[in-house]
Amino acid sequence: MDDLFKGLHLNEMMAADIPFLLDLWHREDVMRYTDEFPHPRGWTRRDDVETAWTAYRHRRKMMGHDYAQLILRLGNRTPVGESFRFPLDNRFTFGQWRKPMELRTTMTDIKMHPDHWGEGLGSALMGLVVEHAFVRTKCQLLVVPPNKRNPAAARVYEKAGFTRSKPLSVHRGHYIMEFRRERFEELYRR
Ligand SMILES: CC(C)(COP(=O)(O)OP(=O)(O)OC[C@H]1O[C@@H](n2cnc3c(N)ncnc32)[C@H](O)[C@@H]1OP(=O)(O)O)[C@@H](O)C(=O)NCCC(=O)NCCS
Repeated sequence: MDDLFKGLHLNEMMAADIPFLLDLWHREDVMRYTDEFPHPRGWTRRDDVETAWTAYRHRRKMMGHDYAQLILRLGNRTPVGESFRFPLDNRFTFGQWRKPMELRTTMTDIKMHPDHWGEGLGSALMGLVVEHAFVRTKCQLLVVPPNKRNPAAARVYEKAGFTRSKPLSVHRGHYIMEFRRERFEELYRR
């Protein structure tokens, strides 16, 4: 079992990873309480590989590191999940929740392949996703939008360091969990 956790890593997607993502986003069990963030992503699961790759590279060039599609891998490089992050603009609201004007804020998530649910991998890889966001970008606040009927997601985010936002706000069945850079420095940099 320990071997499963050896060498876990993530990297930014390459064109060759797109079929893995398209397959993942077409799985009903994976998408039950989440979506693929098609608007901020700039391409959708209905696109072919070439269209998706062109759109990704274009948006990545325009937006820099704050926008990134990550592939989560076992030590032997097998892809087992994905995470997408994108910057929120100052007008962004989510129910009662508003992006704090003064904070550079990034939204992210995690989706694991069901073959690997319940093994602790989502929790371990979410730690790498958090670290990647705070180390590779100047993000000051990281947020995730778990569905309130998806306790496994909320638990994975909580274990990585996220806390429920206050005032508690639910929008379209999702709530927001927050993670500030100061907390990251405290939890991850000891
Ligand atoms: C949510 C998801 C990432 C979890 O990944 P995973 O690899 O199965 O997660 P882990 O095995 O690391 O841990 C799951 C945690 O949730 C807990 N959990 C699972 N089902 C639960 C439930 N019904 N109620 C409460 N906690 C639950 C587990 O006990 C574990 O916590 P623990 O370590 O304290 O025991 C995975 O199920 C997934 O990809 N789901 C589909 C996509 C999705 O909904 N993503 C979230 C988008 S916001």
